[in-house]
Parts: sequence; C-alpha cells; structure tokens
Amino acid sequence: GSTSLGGELVSIINKLQDAFAIVGSNAAQIDLPQICVLGSQSSGKSSVLENIVGRDFLPRGHGIVTRRPLVLQLINRPLSTPSTSGTKSPSQEEWGEFLHLPGKKFFDFHEIRSEIVRDTEAKTGRNAGISPLPINLRIYSPHVLTLTLVDLPGLTKVPVGDQPRDIEKQIRDMLMTYISRPACIILAVTPANQDLANSDGLKMAREVDPEGLRTIGVLTKIDLMDAGTNVIDILAGRIIPLRLGYVPVVNRGQQDIDKSRSVSSALEKEREFFENHPAYKANVKFCGTPFLAQKLNNTLKAHIRNTLPGIKASISQRHQRLSIELLSLGGPLADGNNANVLLTVISEFTSEFRTVIDGTNAAALSLNEL
Ligand code: GDP
Ligand code: NA
Ligand code: MG
Repeated sequence: GSTSLGGELVSIINKLQDAFAIVGSNAAQIDLPQICVLGSQSSGKSSVLENIVGRDFLPRGHGIVTRRPLVLQLINRPLSTPSTSGTKSPSQEEWGEFLHLPGKKFFDFHEIRSEIVRDTEAKTGRNAGISPLPINLRIYSPHVLTLTLVDLPGLTKVPVGDQPRDIEKQIRDMLMTYISRPACIILAVTPANQDLANSDGLKMAREVDPEGLRTIGVLTKIDLMDAGTNVIDILAGRIIPLRLGYVPVVNRGQQDIDKSRSVSSALEKEREFFENHPAYKANVKFCGTPFLAQKLNNTLKAHIRNTLPGIKASISQRHQRLSIELLSLGGPLADGNNANVLLTVISEFTSEFRTVIDGTNAAALSLNEL
C-alpha cells in the first residue's frame, strides 16, 4: 500500500543522510527532507518531539536546555517474531544509536538523554553556551513512524551565562541554515497562552516560507490557557492562516517532568483533556500528538515525492564529477579508498532510487486510473 511505499522512501533518505554524514561536509549540499522544530525558548519544542517519539530521552525544562541541534532519525522496525531462542523483552525491541558512538546500542532511554547532555557539555561547556555542531541520533522502534526530526535551540534575545552578546543573531543564523532549506518541513511551535501575532517561530518561518507550503503550526500549553479562552479561531485559520494548518497539543508541564510522568501517561492525559474540553470534544481527531504525528508523516511523504527528482539529479551530478576525478587520478583506486567507497555507495543508492521512483510512478499511475 501507499504507506509502506512512503516508509521505503524515507528509509532510503535516511541511509543517504548517514552515508553523506560519514563521507564529509559536501553532504550538506544535498537537500534531504527533514522536519525541524522552530520557536522561542521554552515554547515546548523538545516536549513535542519527545511525545511524537513516545519515549523519554530529550533534555527539556526551563531556560536554554537544547544547546546544539539534534538530528533524530526515527526508524520503524517491525516487532520480530518470537524465535525458538526465546521472546525478546520489550526493552530489546527499541534502542538508540549515536553517529559519534558507532556500534553502541542504547536500550535505556535515560542513558540516551545522559549522552546528549554529556556530548552537549563536551562541545559547549556547562554555562549556557551554544554550538551549531549537530548531534546525530537514530532511534529504532516498532512504535514510531519513520521520520527524521531536528530538535533546535530556541529563539532568545538576552544573553545568559557564557553566551556571547550577539546570541540572538547566532541562534537565528543557526536556525536559518536548517529552515531555509527548501526540503525542510517546519514545525512552528507557539505556546497557546501567548499572542500568536508575537510568535517568533511563525515570523521566522514566514521569512523562509512565505507561502506556508512547508510550515505546520503547533500550539502548545493549551492546558495553560485562561478559562473560557480557546484556539478555535486559530485552528479555523481566522488569525494567521497557515496552508498546512495548526495542531493543538498538551505536553507535560514542569511538575510532570519533576515527578517523571511517563510519555504514555502524558498522552493519556492529553487525550482526556481534549475529549472533555467543551471547545475541542467535537473535533478530538484533529487534536493532540497522534494527529500531529500522522499529519507529519503524510506531509513528509508528499514532500519527499516532490523533491526526489531534484535529489536524484544532484546525486547523478556528484557521481559524474567523482567519476571524472577518479579517471584523472588514473582509474579506479585500491579498495578502502574514500572516493571509491563513496562511488560504490552512490551507485547503489542511484539504482535503489531508480527502483523506488519507478515504484512511485507506478503507484501514481494506478492512482490516476481510479
Ligand atoms: P523548549 O525549550 O521549546 O524545547 O521547551 P521544553 O520542551 O524544554 O519545555 C519548556 C517548559 O515548558 C518545560 O517546563 C515543560 O514542562 C513546559 N511545557 C511544554 N509544553 C507544555 C504544555 O503543553 N503544557 C504545560 N503545562 N507545560 C508545557
Ligand atoms: Na527550554
Ligand atoms: Mg528544547
């Protein structure tokens, strides 16, 4: 079906991203689709991502907690069937792996969080410093949709700790390198207890995506709104319309964090909140984290399908350039040479892409026949 086709596309994109990350910096020139969170500090960006993943692993809380970009690849991995050697425990069915610690599987998600904090401090110090150097993390799980997400530091105006005086500009520039890519889907996060017109995230998203073709609005802290107020006018597009619309969510509050409320309990609480709220209960299926995750996956699939021809063209160009370079060096080099390895990888991906593109065209054709 179309869902597995989308999954296949995303998994190829993920492999490419890894291959280019290992090979070097020119990788950035290939615009791979991914989803970024954008918003002011403490608007709830990390909380939103954590709820989408369904596991506790991201540092979050008051102040500037996210201080380096975190490139997070979620990979759906179906439950393995029980074998004669025994059933795998649930904790062995999902794990994380960092690009900077190849081969090390993290089954304990609290250890993933510790490693993010450790590596953040190693590169930026402890006193609120920031760095554009990303942390690359993959999560394998039967419980996630296949997606690539980027957690980013929040927009801020006043320097604290070791932050330079031009912190506002530095963070803006860092965020720009991610959100200005045409292949970036922007999750513009705005707390519902603040005026939408003052949303720094929405303003910045508009600068790079004036048509709103790749910006999804996320309204957090619905539970903290004044009694008798709601976001119905925003959802209906009567305040600042967004082509892809807005999704209202309820994340864990600071108290929930302090008491270590689990994600599953938080999602349950979120569902109950919308089901029992007079303003939302008629449209519960358009509210909350599950709807956001679904909307994201659909948007991403459509986006990948649209950007695939462009990606394929830049891979072919790269392939050609490297072939010529290789010839000028006197033909194919010995095994283990970087250029040679890269060529092999790209050739494999090019043919893999061809298979998928043919599949996509076939699916599109059969859709048109309906
Ligand atoms: P970030 O800085 O944008 O990544 O925001 P965090 O995810 O770290 O959250 C900042 C603070 O806001 C934390 O104390 C969260 O508990 C709190 N928070 C985030 N979303 C919500 C929400 O929907 N409801 C409530 N009550 N608190 C939230
Ligand atoms: Na924060
Ligand atoms: Mg954060």
